[in-house]
Amino acid sequence: MFLEIICSQSRSFTTHNLCATLRLRRCRLKCSIENDRKPCYTAFAGSQSEGKTNVHTTDTMKRIIVGITGASGSIYAVRLLEELSKRKYDIHAVFSRTGTEVMRFECNADQKRFPDVKWHEHDNMFSEIASGCSAAETMIVVPCSVNTLSCIAHGISGNLLQRAAAVTLKERRHLILVPRETPVDSIALESMLTLSKIGVTILPASPGFYHHPKTIDDLIDHVVGKILNIANIPNELCRSWTDPNTI
Ligand SMILES: Cc1cc2nc3c(=O)[nH]c(=O)nc-3n(C[C@H](O)[C@H](O)[C@H](O)COP(=O)(O)O)c2cc1C
Repeated sequence: MFLEIICSQSRSFTTHNLCATLRLRRCRLKCSIENDRKPCYTAFAGSQSEGKTNVHTTDTMKRIIVGITGASGSIYAVRLLEELSKRKYDIHAVFSRTGTEVMRFECNADQKRFPDVKWHEHDNMFSEIASGCSAAETMIVVPCSVNTLSCIAHGISGNLLQRAAAVTLKERRHLILVPRETPVDSIALESMLTLSKIGVTILPASPGFYHHPKTIDDLIDHVVGKILNIANIPNELCRSWTDPNTI
């Protein structure tokens, strides 16, 4: 179903009530403003699971939040931010306290490596990403520690990263968590199930081998390509095994 709404006077349809509408109906919905003003919002639903809403602001860049925790695998976050930085996104990112340390330990990298990213301090609850009014279309937590995963599953907002994830959930946006931990205990599995049931994507950092990887970078890119695929971001990092370019 496709439905277009034209607001002739003012923004009588805000992002918020557009989302409320979309939560009730699986439909495509477009809202624009007449009198030569730029289109206001284009929103669509239906491409993902029930209850999930994508919102694009057509007069601004698409916002995406990357959360980086203290799990091993910070290289995945580095590669993801590199890929996002090549594209036109409004990229916001936040480390957990341990996330900063593990990134430094494993990759010898920090925020300065990504000048195009808007960084937020882990303890700054006044940050815009702590508010539902500026929720991003997608939030990706990579790598995601079991600690952060469990906090998100249980509604705990102990730092800005967890709060941004809680906001992503309450605003019915897309949340992607990339845990690295193995093996996982029942507590972690139950937290994953809890989150999966409300539409969160649990994407374990486990690369495939059908693309015949030759280097560690090939393995990393396979996981990052999967993340981009799930976030609906076109990329060439992750190809299907039927793709003729898969060597
Ligand atoms: C080098 C290093 C690697 C770690 N790897 C993992 C991991 O893969 N998964 C995990 O859940 N925790 C891992 N941890 C433990 C987390 O950093 C720890 O549980 C921390 O409290 C997580 O905090 P956060 O969720 O706020 O980032 C690791 C810690 C260190 C120092």
